[in-house]
Amino acid sequence: MTRPTRALIDTEALRNNVGILRSRIPATTRIMGIAKADCYGHGAAICIPVLQECGIDTFGVATIQEAIGLREIGVTDTVAVLPPPLEGEYHLFPEHDIETVLSTPEMARRMAAAADVCGRRVRVHLFVDTGMGRNGVRPADALSVLEFCSTFDSLEIVGIASHFATSDEPENPFTMEQIGIFDRTLRLALDAGFRFRDIHIANSGGLLNFSASHYTLVRPGLALYGYHPTPELQSTSGLAPVMSLRSVIGNITRMPAGTSISYGRRYFTPCETLVATVPIGYADGVMRILTNNLAAIVRGRRVPVVGTICMDEVMLDLGPVDDSQPGDEVILIGSSDGDEINAWDIAARAGTIPYEICTGISRRVPRIEARQIAGDGTQNGERT
Ligand SMILES: Cc1ncc(COP(=O)(O)O)c(C=O)c1O
Repeated sequence: MTRPTRALIDTEALRNNVGILRSRIPATTRIMGIAKADCYGHGAAICIPVLQECGIDTFGVATIQEAIGLREIGVTDTVAVLPPPLEGEYHLFPEHDIETVLSTPEMARRMAAAADVCGRRVRVHLFVDTGMGRNGVRPADALSVLEFCSTFDSLEIVGIASHFATSDEPENPFTMEQIGIFDRTLRLALDAGFRFRDIHIANSGGLLNFSASHYTLVRPGLALYGYHPTPELQSTSGLAPVMSLRSVIGNITRMPAGTSISYGRRYFTPCETLVATVPIGYADGVMRILTNNLAAIVRGRRVPVVGTICMDEVMLDLGPVDDSQPGDEVILIGSSDGDEINAWDIAARAGTIPYEICTGISRRVPRIEARQIAGDGTQNGERT
C-alpha cells in the first residue's frame, strides 16, 4: 500500500510547461529536457514519457549513472551528461551510447581511447567556459581543443555549449557578455570549418529572459517542472508547478493553552487549541530550518506548521474550533480552493531556491502521477 505522504506529479502541468517554453523559442530550436536528479525530484519514470510525447527527444543529466538509469527505463533517445566525464567512467559513454561534453585535450584523448576499445564512436560537445567559472575550456583555447578532437575518428563533434551564471536576473548585463563571448567562439569555429548539430547555452533563465541565447538547442530544467527561475516572473509566466506534496492528518489532540509542542519547546499553544500530527518530516525533505515558519492547507484553509520539524512528523495548530479529522488531506506544496503554496514560497522562507526544495523531497516519498479525470478532480494514478 502506498504511503499517504506522497508527491503527486501533474503531467498536464508538465505538458502545459513544454507548450509555454516552445512558444518562447524559434520553431527550429530544439529542447533538451534536463532530467538530472530524477527530473528535479519529480520522477523520471513519470516525466520522461510525457516529455517524449511532447516531442522532446534529447535529455541532459548530471552523471553517467543518471544517464544509464534513463537507458534502464527504456529511454533510447539522445542522452548527454552535462558535466565533463570523471576518472574511471569514460568507458561507460560508448558502452551506453551517451553523449559527453569535453573541455581539455586529455579528456578528448581518453574518450577516444574508450571509444576505440568499445568499437563505437562517441558524440561530443565542446563545453566553453564563457563566465560560469565551473566547467569548460577557456574561449581562447576552444578552437585548438576542437581541432584536437577532430583528429580522432572515434569522436564525432556534434555540439558546442556553454552555461550561464546569472540568467535568472533579467537586468544583469553579465548574461549578454557571456552570449557575446559564446558568439565569438562559435564564429571562430564556424570560420575554421566546424559544423554543429547543437549550439546551446540557454538554461531556463536564458530561454525565458534572453532570447538571444536560443541558438539551435535550449536546455531548460526548472521551467519544465513549473517554476520560473526569476521569482518575480513566476505568476505571469503561465508555468504550472508539476509537483504537489501531500500528506494526511494522523491524529488530533486538544491541548491546553501554554502547552509546548515538539523538540526543544519552540512553540507554545497560545490558547486551548487542536494540534494535529502529520506524517512528514525532514527525512522526507521538509527542512528543519522551516521550524515555526511553514504553513499547510487543510480543508481549503491555511494553518501554521508549529514546533520543531521532526524527522518523520510535523504538527499543525488547527485553532480552537476546527472540524478536521484524522485522514484529512494536508497540502504542503500545491493548491486548493484558490489558495496555492508553491516551492518558491517555501524557498523564500528557507532562504533557498525551488531547485533545492524539489530535489530535496526524499526517496521515501512516493511519486505518483496525478491523473485529471474530467469532472472528477484530480485522481491518483498508479504510474510511480
Ligand atoms: C549545464 C546545465 N544546463 C542546463 C541546466 C538547467 O538549468 P535550469 O534548471 O535553470 O533550467 C543546468 C542546471 O543546473 C545545467 O547545469
